[in-house]
Amino acid sequence: MAVIDKLSIGQFRNLICQYITPSKGINLFIGNNAQGKTNLIEAIYYLGHNRSFKTKSIKEVISFNYDKFQLEAQVGDCRIRFEKSKIKNFISVNQQRINNTSRLSQILPIQIITPDKGFIVNGTPKNKRSYLDWGVFHVKPDSAKVFKTYNKTLKNINTLLVTNKENELDFWFLALAKAAAEINKNRVKYLQKLKETTFDNQAELLSPLIDPLNKFDYKFSSGWPKGVDEINEQSIYQYLSKNTTTLLKTKYLNYGSHKASINFSLNDKNECFLSRGEQKALSIIFWLTQVLFLVNLKINPVVLIDDLSSELDSKKINSVLHYLKAIKVQTFITDIGHNLSTINNIKPTIFQIDDGIIQPMK
Ligand SMILES: Nc1ncnc2c1ncn2[C@@H]1O[C@H](COP(=O)(O)OP(=O)(O)OP(=O)(O)O)[C@@H](O)[C@H]1O
Ligand SMILES: [Mg+2]
Repeated sequence: MAVIDKLSIGQFRNLICQYITPSKGINLFIGNNAQGKTNLIEAIYYLGHNRSFKTKSIKEVISFNYDKFQLEAQVGDCRIRFEKSKIKNFISVNQQRINNTSRLSQILPIQIITPDKGFIVNGTPKNKRSYLDWGVFHVKPDSAKVFKTYNKTLKNINTLLVTNKENELDFWFLALAKAAAEINKNRVKYLQKLKETTFDNQAELLSPLIDPLNKFDYKFSSGWPKGVDEINEQSIYQYLSKNTTTLLKTKYLNYGSHKASINFSLNDKNECFLSRGEQKALSIIFWLTQVLFLVNLKINPVVLIDDLSSELDSKKINSVLHYLKAIKVQTFITDIGHNLSTINNIKPTIFQIDDGIIQPMK
């Protein structure tokens, strides 16, 4: 079970030098606009992913007039430490340097719900894949290896297509087919299990988000063309092999597991026809079901929700909070705090953020 017992932040955006000791349950951070709420969520996300969800640039997250940032978190027996600048990239766990981000994700699995990352329902395929593979990775940590192999192989194939090296393609087609079939098997299995969780007892708590009579459904789209059996290595290989001439003309592989997606629907209506409110509510159901699924496997992720009330009305806020409390995951929520009565119901630990200074609310 992942719980951040202590968090220290140094020179990360407008959060200069401080530490907090969050509770194991729901932590609420209140502040007006531009005080540092999203920055705090971004810092915690960074600790679990070794990247930001807002930018690829290290320079952007380092506080103005400083040349490095530092983050430290005590998560159970593990002390994660980051020190990063434009030239330094130091990450350690219990004082041992690590270079492997998947180890971080295992120590500190993080599920994030933020308008900055976009909704999953009617979201981009890239965003859908990122949530899907986050789940797959936590259920099957060694899936990270097969993704690496797939991406490396795909890169080689695209280079061979551009340079017209037809003779060398066959070897890499076989390798890609093998990796793709495994990725597809993992993704299909994960989504099947996730769907079973949607009807779990705890999931009932989310019914205020969407009328239980409505039929919320999602289907995996493997990225491979119709007619290819996505979990069969041979079928994928044959497709690649048969289409070599076309691929040599297009010069890149525009089908494959790197194009996978999830197609959502509500009452058989495609996700693109849903209202923004429906897309929001269904996205939250999907994300929280992923969390519950992992909780059932005794992998309790830390949940980050930025700007809670801007996304939901009070009835929905209430159901999300009661759900998170019931499944006992450590949660970090930010809010402007104009509608605290709903949130106070579940007795969170409250902190105030003012101009980058975080203090427990008395
Ligand atoms: N690298 C940086 N160094 C210092 N300050 C920064 C840096 N990057 C952003 N900021 C500042 O941090 C402040 C807080 O930003 P943040 O996005 O956390 O606000 P917020 O509390 O989430 O506000 P809102 O309620 O509007 O979402 C902003 O004024 C922003 O300009
Ligand atoms: Mg914000």
